[in-house]
Amino acid sequence: MCGIIAYIGYRPALPILLDGLKKLEYRGYDSAGFSVMGEKELVTVKRKGRISELEKAVDSSATASKIGIAHTRWATHGEPNEINAHPHLSCDGSIVIVHNGIIENYSVLKELLISEGHRFTSETDSEVIVHLIEKFYRGNLESAVVAALENVEGTYGLAVLHRSENKIVVARKGSPMVIGLGQNETIIASDAVAIVAHTKKVVYLNDNEIAVINGTECIVRKLDGSMITPEIQEIRWTAGQIEKRGFKHFMLKEIFEQPEAILNTLRGRIKDNRVKLSLSVDFDRVKRILLTACGTSWHSALIGKIYFEKYAGIPAEVDYASEFRYRQGIIDENVLVVVISQSGETADTLAALRKAKTAGAQVIGIVNAVGSTIAREVNSGIYLHAGPEIGVASTKAFVCQTMALLLLSLWFRQEKRLPVSDAFIERLFQIPAQIGKILEDAPQITRIASEYSQKQNALYLGRGISFPVALEGALKLKEISYIHAEGYPAAEMKHGPIALIDENMPVVFLATNGQVFDKVMSNMQEVKARRGIILTVTDRENKLLNDLSNHIFYVPETDEDLSPLLNVIPLQLLAYEIADQKGLNVDKPRNLAKSVTVE
Ligand code: G6P
Repeated sequence: MCGIIAYIGYRPALPILLDGLKKLEYRGYDSAGFSVMGEKELVTVKRKGRISELEKAVDSSATASKIGIAHTRWATHGEPNEINAHPHLSCDGSIVIVHNGIIENYSVLKELLISEGHRFTSETDSEVIVHLIEKFYRGNLESAVVAALENVEGTYGLAVLHRSENKIVVARKGSPMVIGLGQNETIIASDAVAIVAHTKKVVYLNDNEIAVINGTECIVRKLDGSMITPEIQEIRWTAGQIEKRGFKHFMLKEIFEQPEAILNTLRGRIKDNRVKLSLSVDFDRVKRILLTACGTSWHSALIGKIYFEKYAGIPAEVDYASEFRYRQGIIDENVLVVVISQSGETADTLAALRKAKTAGAQVIGIVNAVGSTIAREVNSGIYLHAGPEIGVASTKAFVCQTMALLLLSLWFRQEKRLPVSDAFIERLFQIPAQIGKILEDAPQITRIASEYSQKQNALYLGRGISFPVALEGALKLKEISYIHAEGYPAAEMKHGPIALIDENMPVVFLATNGQVFDKVMSNMQEVKARRGIILTVTDRENKLLNDLSNHIFYVPETDEDLSPLLNVIPLQLLAYEIADQKGLNVDKPRNLAKSVTVE
């Protein structure tokens, strides 16, 4: 989704802004633009499409400036075009803004500002902010921004420039802003990914805070005027982690990083076969668990429910964050709400977290992005330590979330003084190497993928703990290959999807050794009888299974409860290979955003 980068310091701003925009590309965008200080006036350039288009449009008037703001836009109000792209300018061209978020009362404000003589050029909600600032400007940019923000309802991450003030004003409510403190320079961004190459010292702005940055100094206040001493934090990952390192795409690199990512999630959390987590949970109060998330994280929540019920013996339910936030659910102090988010910024998940807290529930976060809003607002939580995930389609976050949820359920089990077998812990530690083994067999998936890449539909079937994996496999395929795919519980196939099966329908079966193995084979017979094309992922050698399958992919054998961590890998590879063979933009699929910071 939209991204912001801003610079003030001693170096030419433009290369830093353009490089920052490229680092933010992964979030998804449809247009981009920048404003820098020219000799006397602000120079603003915007383009629809890729950042390369913007680079082509740069002229010499923009290159010397040492201060500037830039933006990648993901359209919400108004179609993706040059006019709607940010930055937006005031009528007299003296003030310029970039904005992430949504201004909910923009139409009322726009009408009012037009009646006062302001001329709007775009269809965006964001443009009202710059006109409001212009309306209140009396020679002090910060005061004008504060006055403007008093009038807006909605969310914002905002960076503002005035042509006569050598400073950048930034503000935040509901949309992240990070201030990177370098040596005599400051790099501001909506995502630390765009900052880390320059400095690792950062200040995460909180909601209702405003910062004024003049290159050497950064003053942070609350919008009500009270001063804040900003907490300077250190980014723990390196710029190298957000490079492709020889892989064709970030997604492929992230798939191959999974053995290490899982080890990082486990690191320090199991000692002497006991799970060690530092969480502030009043255990006696937990009568029910609610897991809430969006997208891939929601799929890991479905697996978490199975873990909590089985290992912790606590009733658990799963809700889409976007549904939970508006539903009159029964949440009180006896409920533990587990919010799961790779980015820690998903608007619906954040709203669900706030709702749970208001209702008095205890809240735990399972988050990858350190310092993100969700991570900072939960009472306590588990960081995945998976490293930055750049590919829009989530891969390594999913396996790490699943592992974190397993650890959490085992932690509850220990609290109940129930045993966790040493053999199970041993199997858990075998997972990274077993994923490594599957990755060695990736060329087999490449061959299978070539037979599926021209199909229009696909069905993914699994039962029990394999059902969420089927959902995740189908999501991966549709996200990046644009093939319509559905995940279904295998036994439910006969209540609908079976009508779709013919010789053109690929059906991916998760046939894991366990209590429903034979039943899944019966479902395969049903597909075979209707000439469907079967790809089976299994850990069990079986003649009938082999005969039923058009293709078969073997994964190492593990405990059935750990099987999602292995079964998902070939499904990720399959989706990747199909999308790549179709020549699609795997890392930045159309219409999708990595971090969905609007409703
Ligand atoms: C977007 C991403 C998905 C992700 C979902 C939830 O849709 O494209 O990959 O699963 O948001 O994101 P979160 O950061 O909260 O896990």
